[in-house]
Amino acid sequence: MIDLAEAQPRSADLTLPRLRGPRPPAQTEALAVEILALKRQHNAVILAHNYQVPEIQDVADFVGDSLGLSQQAASTSADVIVFCGVHFMAETAKILNPGKIVVLPDKDAGCSLEESCPAPELAKLQATNPNFYTIAYINCSAAVKALSDVIVTSGNALKIVNAAPKDRDLLFVPDENLGAWVMEQTGRPMTLWRGNCYAHVEFQRDNILRARAAYPDAKIVVHPESLREVRELADVVCSTEKMITYCKNSPARRFVIVTESGIIHRMQKECPDKEFLCAPVFNVMQLPTDNCRCSECRYMKMNTLEKLRDCMKHLAPRVEMPADILAKARAPIERMLEISARA
Ligand code: 13P
Ligand code: SF4
Repeated sequence: MIDLAEAQPRSADLTLPRLRGPRPPAQTEALAVEILALKRQHNAVILAHNYQVPEIQDVADFVGDSLGLSQQAASTSADVIVFCGVHFMAETAKILNPGKIVVLPDKDAGCSLEESCPAPELAKLQATNPNFYTIAYINCSAAVKALSDVIVTSGNALKIVNAAPKDRDLLFVPDENLGAWVMEQTGRPMTLWRGNCYAHVEFQRDNILRARAAYPDAKIVVHPESLREVRELADVVCSTEKMITYCKNSPARRFVIVTESGIIHRMQKECPDKEFLCAPVFNVMQLPTDNCRCSECRYMKMNTLEKLRDCMKHLAPRVEMPADILAKARAPIERMLEISARA
């Protein structure tokens, strides 16, 4: 049996080394100066997801969730978009800006959700029901977007599913957990693709119950990619950007955050007088998994400040895709942005 007191050091272990950075501060500073000079040279904008390491967030022009990043990509006047996130996010920026250069620090920064849904498999399922209306979570490939009617993010999924045509059979891909949450909230039945986020499904009900017992005053803040049994324990279930807003506006002083640990950096910056604990994760032997970064997305963490500098220096790796996919994937993203902007 785990001593409840062990949960607290574990959360600190997860965040503090990241805040200090992996190199001497003077080197981090020098890299940041180089990156800002390259930004001016190329008239570039740096977009970073809330899960990126703190030092990348600190040099970015905009840090946000998938929805905010798509909105920024849709409206930027920069010539070059430097996307610090995972591949499908950079692809989305390219689809919205076919004429611009889009680079990302590590081209191998993928996503387990994207991997779970190959476009040919989706096409086969779609062929079984011509009345399907395909709603794709943005965490999917450009080829899957090209087969979809509308895209959603965790920030706008409820609004977009509520707006979906009533006479169509809804097919939701690729996240079965987000899809199940959307069904619960909207009451719209949907056929769900059986994909999941390998990181979020690690959070277990027992761990969250322990956190609740150890910190009864804390609010439990959960991302909808988590399992239903975990979502059921939440005070709020929402996208990463809404998590930050919730923590800012809540009178509570302490929060257990059930998502990727990179988000803690912004939370601490924007709410310096509040305390944020990464959800404790324990292994099957019920021992704290201190050496395992269970609440870290291995793909998001592939990006480093060095790789960011290099991709800006060489304007590579670039995001490219076949012209037909690029053209077809645009309409469902634009539909999402349009519905999202409605009052
Ligand atoms: P958000 O859109 O909530 O930031 O989520 C993105 C993501 O990949 C969650 O795992
Ligand atoms: Fe994909 Fe999960 Fe990583 Fe988000 S946290 S990018 S859903 S693998």
